[in-house]
Amino acid sequence: MKISYKVNNSSRNIYFEKNILKLILKDIEKLESDKKILLIFDKNIDHKFIQNIKNALKIVGSKVIIVEAEGNKIKKNEKLLFKIIDIFIRNNFTKRSILICAGGGVVGDVAGLAASLYLRGMLYFNIPTTMTSIIDSCLGGKTAINYKNIINSVGNYYHPNAIYISTEVIKDIPDREYFAGFSEILKCALISKKKNFMNFLINNQKKILNRDEKFLKKICYETLNTKIFFFVNDVYEQKERLMLNFGHTFAHAIEMSTDLLKKDFYRHGEAVGIGILCELYYANKGKNKIFKTVEKFLNELNLPTKINNEKFNKKTLHSDIYKFLFLDKKKLNKFPRYISLKSQGKPRIDELDNDTLINETIIKMSQ
Ligand SMILES: NC(=O)c1ccc[n+]([C@@H]2O[C@H](COP(=O)([O-])OP(=O)(O)OC[C@H]3O[C@@H](n4cnc5c(N)ncnc54)[C@H](O)[C@@H]3O)[C@@H](O)[C@H]2O)c1
Repeated sequence: MKISYKVNNSSRNIYFEKNILKLILKDIEKLESDKKILLIFDKNIDHKFIQNIKNALKIVGSKVIIVEAEGNKIKKNEKLLFKIIDIFIRNNFTKRSILICAGGGVVGDVAGLAASLYLRGMLYFNIPTTMTSIIDSCLGGKTAINYKNIINSVGNYYHPNAIYISTEVIKDIPDREYFAGFSEILKCALISKKKNFMNFLINNQKKILNRDEKFLKKICYETLNTKIFFFVNDVYEQKERLMLNFGHTFAHAIEMSTDLLKKDFYRHGEAVGIGILCELYYANKGKNKIFKTVEKFLNELNLPTKINNEKFNKKTLHSDIYKFLFLDKKKLNKFPRYISLKSQGKPRIDELDNDTLINETIIKMSQ
């Protein structure tokens, strides 16, 4: 399967195949690279998969440098960013050299930022290896590091030349990294104009649990195309791309406040699931059929539906979440912005302007 889209007047491909190596080698030739390659990979990926990439690259690469990294929000920092850039400089990489990243959203976001900054942009290939990165972070060009305890506070937009999704990788993703991606899939189904997408997703729980290949191919296709629909004419997030932030105003506040106390407590996708419920609660004053549907879906996949209070000081966590809501990147005026959804396929941008309701949402959504 191949999905093609156009961004900044240039065509880009997302491949979804069993054997991605042949495609990568073909693209290295097609893009007329100087064959200096840096392969950065997440240390938790199956070693055989990485070894196969290394072996294939050695055939075409005059120089291949390998860097192991760790997909952990705390490591999504300037240290890793400059480690990559230092290697480019030491080895005289040019704009025609290639950075290949195999990893989840953390390694991908940092690698993408490094590729965009070095010489103001070089060739960049992305091989996403968690469900969150496969259906979300590999696409759309957002790159970033976390800085001063603020998620993605330093970043920009830089699109990979190509994205290679391996069906072999999906089979081996650990359960936690597999299921966490379904919150972002659910988000896309909720904001999509296609009602069928939502029904197809929530009526096929068994296929999700069994990692049914045909089903996953279809669900990835729908999710990636939904993301393309919302960002492709609004890369810098002024209008419709904002809708992809559904659940994220609360999710980022929850992630930042829990990370302050227990590093890397929630996976991004897990926080997004809770964030979607918080924003549905806020938008509908707690009364909405979709809320129940979302809660049931997340419960069936064993994803959290409440902010975990047991591991934290309740009062501190509440006030931190409140504080971080007001630090949200989308905020323009006095109040933070969020995506309000009253019915499937009809998201709209709104403000969190009711203090009592913000506090009620945090309390009701905590356990
Ligand atoms: N750029 C975007 O548009 C975008 C969108 C969504 C999320 N994000 C970012 O992505 C990050 C979250 O991504 P994530 O959930 O992939 O987290 P992650 O990269 O931290 O990966 C989660 C865990 O999975 C491990 N891992 C990765 N691939 C594996 C594999 N194949 N097998 C075994 N273990 C593997 C990692 O080592 C890590 O422990 C956040 O920083 C978030 O801000 C960015």
